[in-house]
Amino acid sequence: MNSTVQRLLAPYKGILAADESTKTIEKRLMAYGLQSTEEIKQAYRKMLFTTPDIEKYISGIILYKDSLDFIPLLNQKGITAGIKVDEGLESFNGTEEEVTKGLEGLSARLDKYINLGVRFTKWRAVIKISNIYPSDTFLEENLGRMSKYAKMVQEKEITPIVEPEVLLDGNHTTARCEETMTKTLKKLFELLIKENVDLDNLLLKSSMVLPGKDSGVEALPLEVANATLRTFRNSVPNKLRGIVFLSGGQTSDQAINNLNEIVKLNIGNKFGPWDISFSYSRALQNDALAIWIGKIENVTNAQEVFGKRLQMVSKARMGEL
Ligand code: 13P
Repeated sequence: MNSTVQRLLAPYKGILAADESTKTIEKRLMAYGLQSTEEIKQAYRKMLFTTPDIEKYISGIILYKDSLDFIPLLNQKGITAGIKVDEGLESFNGTEEEVTKGLEGLSARLDKYINLGVRFTKWRAVIKISNIYPSDTFLEENLGRMSKYAKMVQEKEITPIVEPEVLLDGNHTTARCEETMTKTLKKLFELLIKENVDLDNLLLKSSMVLPGKDSGVEALPLEVANATLRTFRNSVPNKLRGIVFLSGGQTSDQAINNLNEIVKLNIGNKFGPWDISFSYSRALQNDALAIWIGKIENVTNAQEVFGKRLQMVSKARMGEL
């Protein structure tokens, strides 16, 4: 197995997504009345990354381009540094669908990041569910760009993560989510294989199969686990080594409990041989941010709460919660 993939999938460990874009981190901080200055962003991320024992639970951290200064600190702790390399969304043919951009100039950006010590990358695509979306032409274009990104990253001999995020927004059923995710993942792997992407040196970052946020339905962890693993069995090649989840707007407890159930249900590789772990942002960070709120005197308490979340998600990643 590729050594970065192996390191990222270490038992009891997973990935912390701390790659909130300028706009996203601003939204998160603003919710607590904090201005998103460079100083506050750095202080927040420092609070997270210097949490005692973080390296026991976190194998890799995905950074945004504004936090590359943290790479030496991560390396000191034996945490692999990654970076988000897509450049957000742009409108697709004047429709409501949005495709991910960022292929232009990517090669040069990768060279710079690799020089600084980055060993893996992330590219996120957003897939909305409605009665008419996602359209076939949109999936072809968006996942085609994602596949080209993955190939380019592998040519630089580091590891790409592909993240086709199927959004929780909407009032769709679990069945509609399963149908959409199956179609999306089948198309993605068809295009990755067409680009000659090596599935041994790749991680899939996926949503879980869930009913829409506005459907008024809350699925039980076992239902989520069955539907999610069935989706993977029907669309993800066995040659892929690992799948990591995003939390996607689930509460911290939901994201952790659902992960635990998925890992448990796949014991003995009943649905497929992939190693299953996490790559959460909000589900790990939310309660720590709520305690920290920009105050130095809250750092210890915030780190304690963050550390507790890490302990829980680490157990869930092994199905031991
Ligand atoms: P959430 O866990 O908050 O969904 O973030 C994961 C991520 O990296 C989204 O791109």
